[in-house]
Amino acid sequence: MNYNLEALSEQHHRLGVLGGTFNPIHLGHIAMAQAATQTLGLNHVLFIPTGRPPHKPRQIFSAEHRYAMTLLATAPYAHFDVSRMEIDRGGVSYTADTLEELRKLYVQKVYFIIGADAMQDILSWKSPELVLSRCILCVCARKGVDESTLDNLVRLARSKYNSKIAVIEMDADISSTRVRDCIELDMPIDHLLPAEVSNYIRKHGLYKSDGYDLKGAQKIIGASLSDKRWRHTLGVVGEAVKLAERYGANRRKAYAAALFHDCAKEIEPERKRALCKAWNLQIDSVMDEQIGLTHGLLSAEIARREFAVDDPEILNAICCHTTGAEQMSLLDKILLIADLTELSRKGVDPHHREDLRAAAMDNLDKAIVMALKIKIEFTLQQKRTVHPVSLKALEYAENKFITKGDTKDGV
Ligand SMILES: [Fe+2]
Ligand SMILES: [Fe+2]
Repeated sequence: MNYNLEALSEQHHRLGVLGGTFNPIHLGHIAMAQAATQTLGLNHVLFIPTGRPPHKPRQIFSAEHRYAMTLLATAPYAHFDVSRMEIDRGGVSYTADTLEELRKLYVQKVYFIIGADAMQDILSWKSPELVLSRCILCVCARKGVDESTLDNLVRLARSKYNSKIAVIEMDADISSTRVRDCIELDMPIDHLLPAEVSNYIRKHGLYKSDGYDLKGAQKIIGASLSDKRWRHTLGVVGEAVKLAERYGANRRKAYAAALFHDCAKEIEPERKRALCKAWNLQIDSVMDEQIGLTHGLLSAEIARREFAVDDPEILNAICCHTTGAEQMSLLDKILLIADLTELSRKGVDPHHREDLRAAAMDNLDKAIVMALKIKIEFTLQQKRTVHPVSLKALEYAENKFITKGDTKDGV
């Protein structure tokens, strides 16, 4: 991509504008502003946090939090400023309105800095002709990524709106979504954010709405389980997060449910019995006969008592992963299936496991029928009594999710 950046330059003060939800602002934003400053010789970059974005991303925090984080991130740079323009204007924030407001305040054109992903959307923004005529667009693109798509978009915008567009290649590959995902799963974020922003997020508990510490729990559970059980647990975590992503479930909840699901599995049988009694957990005659089946109940209770997990959705998924249930939530289904599809799991025919993995990515409801059949078949092979709840769960799922055209003996 060779665009004549010099031709876009103007003699007077050059103002760059970087808009965005900044939810949160990260090092990629700073890198974009720096790259535009250096390449286009900007005198100033104005960061403008969106007040109310037209398309609301998940977990958007208040404008004041996002504004505060933007102030912190830009403070070390003398040529960066933050504007409350969109926040104070109220209503939905449209770039066309912002550029018009800037045009009234500044005589010169502004250099509007966007990422390559925003370039893909810009033609569908409100009044793209106004946006493109009121600024010189500065597109920051990652080297080598989708060059032809970007080239086509740039060509289209130029021919349709006669717009001036500069493309700057850069290395940074950070997105706010990635930052939020890392926070959700207690993964490190310090390499993605300015230190002041990480501290702010931690101090205000942003992007996490619960009180439990997954990373801390992971260490404790990892140390308490056998290698085999821990390998299985981590495998279930991976499968559960993958399914959560596929079906739009909360990844952190899927992670937590999988992490805790077997934490009581290796407790000695008599101790299991004693704990059920001590914690007042109701066990029926089948569980009394097969005390191992109580590990779902016990694992959930341990998650609640020792790790401060009080989310009923997570606790319920842990409880019912052993037997299934008639009306299972999305998370219940994800955990029960992930427990069977992880690769180190014994007792599941590899062909059935692969069929189940494929079905789970295609249709979770049909996969739950397969999963319950696998569980029941395995119990029968072990010459153990199938829990009546499992039989009812299978009957319910077959009636609800299997239509006439489907075979009922998919496993
Ligand atoms: Fe289990
Ligand atoms: Fe398990």
